[in-house]
Amino acid sequence: MKQITSQELKTMYLNFFEEKGHAIIPSASLIPENDPTVLFTTAGMHPLVPYLLGEKHPAGKRLTDVQKCVRTGDIDDVGDDTHCTFFEMMGNWSLGDYFKTEAIAWSFEFLTSEKYLDIPVTKLAVTVFEGDENAPRDEESADLWAKNGMPRDRIFYLGKKDNWWGPAGVTGPCGPDTEMFIDTGKEACSDTCSPACSCGKYIEIWNDVFMQYYKNEDGTYTPLAHMNVDTGMGVERTVCTINGKNTVYDTDLFQEARAFLEKVSGKKYGDDDNQKAFRVVLDHVRTATFMLGDVRGITPSNVDQGYVLRRLLRRAIRFAMNLDIQGADLAGLAMVYVEKYKDSYTELTVAKDLIANEIIKEVEKFSKTITQGLKEFAKVASFIKGDVIPGKTAFRLYDTFGFPVEMTEELATEKNMTVDREGYETAYQEHQKKSQVGSEQRFKGGLADSSELTTNLHTATHLMHEALRKVVTGEDIVQRGANITAERLRFDFSCSRPVTKEELAEVEKIVNDAINAKLPVDCVEMPIAEAQAKGAVGIFTSKYGENVKVYTINDYSCEICGGPHATNTGELGRFKIKKEQSSSSGVRRIKAVLITE
Ligand code: ALA
Repeated sequence: MKQITSQELKTMYLNFFEEKGHAIIPSASLIPENDPTVLFTTAGMHPLVPYLLGEKHPAGKRLTDVQKCVRTGDIDDVGDDTHCTFFEMMGNWSLGDYFKTEAIAWSFEFLTSEKYLDIPVTKLAVTVFEGDENAPRDEESADLWAKNGMPRDRIFYLGKKDNWWGPAGVTGPCGPDTEMFIDTGKEACSDTCSPACSCGKYIEIWNDVFMQYYKNEDGTYTPLAHMNVDTGMGVERTVCTINGKNTVYDTDLFQEARAFLEKVSGKKYGDDDNQKAFRVVLDHVRTATFMLGDVRGITPSNVDQGYVLRRLLRRAIRFAMNLDIQGADLAGLAMVYVEKYKDSYTELTVAKDLIANEIIKEVEKFSKTITQGLKEFAKVASFIKGDVIPGKTAFRLYDTFGFPVEMTEELATEKNMTVDREGYETAYQEHQKKSQVGSEQRFKGGLADSSELTTNLHTATHLMHEALRKVVTGEDIVQRGANITAERLRFDFSCSRPVTKEELAEVEKIVNDAINAKLPVDCVEMPIAEAQAKGAVGIFTSKYGENVKVYTINDYSCEICGGPHATNTGELGRFKIKKEQSSSSGVRRIKAVLITE
């Protein structure tokens, strides 16, 4: 077959359909504008739904484009030969204009003509809808294929599972389709081997959907006012198959990116033990680049699209560690993709710095906790009886170490274990409820909440407590109370005299040195007795229950506390003591703040 690069394929496709009277339209955003039922644009037709339903498109009734798409249903499968989270889909549309006759004739021409893909018919196969109680058997399409030159024995009839498309969300336009496959020439797996089986003999590259219906919420179908054609040809899959490659990672699409990763890692792609890691990093960083660089760009967060982005980046960071790739190199890789795609997607150039900065920010955030989190996971996994990681543990890995639950699940799978997902959801909900209560109480009168500011002040309190114990000699400094709001910390401690100015300056310096040293904050749960034996400071009363959380800040401090805490002292900002005064007899009080420049 013809060898072809991804760019040549895209240009050839657009030009072909332009010649057939189609207007070339730009790719829409990856984030659907008017569809709350899905997080991302998953197919070329998705942004066109209003027009498929009858709205007039300004460019006319025949459209063609290359649409960037994201599908995240199988993130954990990425690393194998076939799954990608980002892909480009070429498509041509008829909005109530042409229907099956033209669509099939043009598909046949583009696939087989010498001028275009030049695929011999002996290497092709097609499928059509076999019919059911809702829609008739699609003999019309089968006859059209045959008329154009497709041998009858290469036309397969399949059911709704295979030959029905849509809608992209819960409701929307849909209809029977006809799909086009490359026959790789592999042995048939059985007498009944057909494009419906996944043995690898047939690889789907194009799908013509004949949109005739609207799927309603209750699952019923209403005929559309006018009939449309919606087609989709995946760039990745097509380039890979036509060029006879086994995986998309062997195509020109990843050529520069692979070379970059090999350079920065000093490792060669393709060794059995690093292939998966290479692929995960290659795929996820490409997707993240497009998400961050989108005109309706998103940034990592804990909900919706931002959560998916975070999950991708954190999974990439985890696998990059296996390749000894530094975080900053992931931003470098993103820049390789910007370069590769900048002509087709000008928004990437505009967002270049933002893409790099956001990736670096996420890397920095997660790097602080990933190693500890992995250690914690290994510990938990080795101690657990049975093969289920409790939901509470999975939640702790999420809350304390930033592990998306799916990452914990993947780690569990690697050890032939599973995660109690329901238990995780319950723990998550409980936490949400608690934070809600926290903020309600804050408005009522200054109790601690778990916002970033108060969290940081909690950690600063530990640092200050320890510094006081070091600096104020001759006194037995013991915590007598603490009150923290988002604005300041207040700390009461036993001390028979005022703390001097020099001592306060010294305390400030020690705390700021600890902040500048970017010390990791660790949390381990243990019985009170064990905590005491470790020399943890804190209030040893029964209110902590059997097990207590012990927060250690490197070698610097070890304290019993309910948390929450920052994961690294580097997050805190500059520490400043505002006031030192008497609180009650033998008890002094310090108020201090964190200044973030
Ligand atoms: N919308 C159809 C698909 O994505 C063409 O396969």
